[in-house]
Amino acid sequence: MTDVPSAETAKTAAPFRADLRRSVRLFSAFRKEQTDPDFFYGLLARDTVAQLAAYTPLDGRLVLDVGGGPGYFADALREAGARPVCVDCDAGEMSMRDGSPPEGAILGSALDLPLADGTIDVCFSSNVLEHVPDPWRMTDEMVRVTRPGGLVYLSFTNWLSPWGGHETSPWHYLGGHRAARRYQRVHGKRPKNVYGESMYAVSVGAALKWARSCSNVEIVDALPRYHPRWASTVIRLPGLREIVTWNLLLILRRR
Ligand SMILES: C[S@@+](CC[C@H](N)C(=O)[O-])C[C@H]1O[C@@H](n2cnc3c(N)ncnc32)[C@H](O)[C@@H]1O
Repeated sequence: MTDVPSAETAKTAAPFRADLRRSVRLFSAFRKEQTDPDFFYGLLARDTVAQLAAYTPLDGRLVLDVGGGPGYFADALREAGARPVCVDCDAGEMSMRDGSPPEGAILGSALDLPLADGTIDVCFSSNVLEHVPDPWRMTDEMVRVTRPGGLVYLSFTNWLSPWGGHETSPWHYLGGHRAARRYQRVHGKRPKNVYGESMYAVSVGAALKWARSCSNVEIVDALPRYHPRWASTVIRLPGLREIVTWNLLLILRRR
């Protein structure tokens, strides 16, 4: 699976160490996700771009951010010298931070990307796959627009992760609809992420199966995105991986 150098061994454009300290920093920052989104998403975006840069040079590269929302990742990509383009289907999400969409953003669907085949150097997506009704159509689209030799960075929160139900967690373990009803009862409003409408159950196993069956890509890496590198072996353990991975990151090279 890892014929190509991994995040730790590849020549890096930015220093990146997937150690325990980094994981603690990310999980601690997550506590401020609601109260200080600029702090949390800024930190996560810089961390993510450093992680991405361990697999591919970014300077001058055209990077598509699928479901990029308000553009935190686009900003970090631009700082790293890349040319980011956000595609998102929700103008409200894109304008959430500054009242206007990120520079150069395109309103469009991840399920039908408004780009020609093989035009993108790096196709990136963070935490969007679990929000689309047909995840494998989205992954196929990401592969389609990536040029041969280009990279796909695909990350998502899997359903049986402790955060799989997002703000309805951990009650999603008792069922997504039940968790949504409980949220409404307790908070007096519907959750932002509604199971079966804007949040779907995607498993680590299914994502790996899709990647292995996709003849247009080579799997460079598959790892728990926020965990220390040494925890990556969990991906090889069916069952357990669905609980402890938290967020699966696939790095794929377009053939
Ligand atoms: C949880 S947010 C993630 C935002 C950002 N990528 C991040 O990691 O912080 C999910 C984003 O996916 C977008 N999205 C959901 N379904 C989509 C679709 N079919 N096409 C494009 N974007 C979509 C939403 O509008 C939202 O901005």
